[in-house]
Amino acid sequence: MYKKFLIPIDGSDRSQMAVEDGIKMAGKVGGQVTIYHVVPDYNVFVNYDHTGIAYKSFINELERQGREILENTQNRYSEYGVMTETKLAKGNPVQEICNEAKEGCYDIIVMGSRGLGDVFGFFLGSVSGKVVRHADCSVLIIK
Ligand SMILES: Nc1ncnc2c1ncn2[C@@H]1O[C@H](COP(=O)(O)OP(=O)(O)OP(=O)(O)O)[C@@H](O)[C@H]1O
Ligand SMILES: [Mg+2]
Repeated sequence: MYKKFLIPIDGSDRSQMAVEDGIKMAGKVGGQVTIYHVVPDYNVFVNYDHTGIAYKSFINELERQGREILENTQNRYSEYGVMTETKLAKGNPVQEICNEAKEGCYDIIVMGSRGLGDVFGFFLGSVSGKVVRHADCSVLIIK
């Protein structure tokens, strides 16, 4: 049975649905949840600014927002009584999610089909599409 749940969120409504469904499922099986956010590493931007200051403050702001999203989400579901921790990473979202799932020996990843970039209406976004293909564990996509 699935006991260890990894729930990656980007702050979108769809990822909030994934948190709600994932936490409810974990509650039913006495499982534990990690709500996970990856601050994308936009290395390519560094070259646009010789000082690197604008880039750093941009990344710091993304990190601040990421921590806020994690904290708000954890608080929102605190009354569900499920053991829930939050974790923030920096880098490529697909790589970080797949690495975390492997290193942390998670049983299942629960994530949204689309996220913040949902403008074209395709079924899967780039992150969910690649995680489904590359993760070693099962992946549940919330539509
Ligand atoms: N930076 C991230 N950190 C953690 N989880 C993420 C991140 N980005 C996306 N996700 C997870 O992946 C799901 C699908 O998002 P995805 O980014 O694939 O779609 P999209 O934003 O609509 O499309 P795209 O990013 O390709 O424009 C989200 O609901 C969320 O669960
Ligand atoms: Mg996205």
